[in-house]
Amino acid sequence: MASSAVAYIHAESEEPPADVVGAHQGLRRVWTSVQMVAPTDSPVLIQGETGTGKELVARAIHMRSRRSRGPYVQLNCAAMPAGLLESELFGHERGAFTGAVSQFAGRFERAHGGTLFLDEIGDMPLELQPKLLRVLQEQEFEPLGGTRTIRVDVRVVAATNQDLLQMLRERRFRADLFYRLNVFPLALPALRERREDIPPLVEHFVRKFSERMNKTFLRVPDEAIETLKRHHWPGNVRELENFVHRAVITSPPFDLRFPLEDLVSSAQPDASGAIRTLAEAERAHIMDVLNRVGGVVGGREGAAARLGVARTTLLYRMRRLGISTGAGRPEL
Ligand SMILES: Nc1ncnc2c1ncn2[C@@H]1O[C@H](COP(=O)(O)OP(=O)(O)OP(=O)(O)O)[C@@H](O)[C@H]1O
Ligand SMILES: [Mg+2]
Repeated sequence: MASSAVAYIHAESEEPPADVVGAHQGLRRVWTSVQMVAPTDSPVLIQGETGTGKELVARAIHMRSRRSRGPYVQLNCAAMPAGLLESELFGHERGAFTGAVSQFAGRFERAHGGTLFLDEIGDMPLELQPKLLRVLQEQEFEPLGGTRTIRVDVRVVAATNQDLLQMLRERRFRADLFYRLNVFPLALPALRERREDIPPLVEHFVRKFSERMNKTFLRVPDEAIETLKRHHWPGNVRELENFVHRAVITSPPFDLRFPLEDLVSSAQPDASGAIRTLAEAERAHIMDVLNRVGGVVGGREGAAARLGVARTTLLYRMRRLGISTGAGRPEL
């Protein structure tokens, strides 16, 4: 994008967008940083657990940048096999590989003049990382199967829920790419670290879904709020949002009832007291949820929605943990 003197026109408000709820200091700090970094062309790395609002922040950065009229393109690096990821990102020439019947513009080319949001950047295969680094540094790359160099003007915003520093130590993520992306890090707090935001978030989601469904509820029961404030919320804001959505669907008008009994299992510690690895705990939790929903992964009532992650993310994790897609289905 051509540099100009009118670059800093979009930072008109210090407040987060109207549909973003939260008074917690850590969250406010993030929004102050969004104001600062949005109008620049700097890469941004958003870190936070699943469902903490990373995508929300990425979009806000684009909307408040001088690229807001340009394209906003996103790609989830975890949702795609490594082989496909390269052509998705950088495109390919006709005949680059079997099945490449025509030329294909990748996400970088399509994001020209705008922002490319690379979600789950921790899943970017090592062998692709140098190519990504080069675009970040030189703004140029070659599509697969070609010698043509394409120049683009793209601002990259990346997000991850993995510990990239740890991945660096394990040599699963390149240090040069990490430092290039980490120019401006933003860390989103987990919902359990900002429990005071739970009541306003519940109100916000009750209003949102009841309006959408043309239902009226007089009040949110205080006792329920207390239970919700104590819950661990492994799926963070998305889990809370889905939970409220379910309550609004299933409650009769004027009488909001939360299915609090559904909450118990997700925060239960291992009964034996033995320390489990993270993978073991993740595996057990996914299996537990699959069993409860009859093995359904996608859809509103499926395991992915319950766990507060995208269907593709859950499928990816299941594959990594060796859980078959038929797991949890009732035997006929
Ligand atoms: N502070 C907030 N106020 C209102 N809604 C929020 C807030 N934070 C997150 N949400 C909502 O929670 C849901 C999850 O947010 P988002 O998709 O941005 O999370 P994420 O960190 O990208 O999750 P994942 O790691 O699973 O991709 C969205 O519906 C979003 O609108
Ligand atoms: Mg996301």
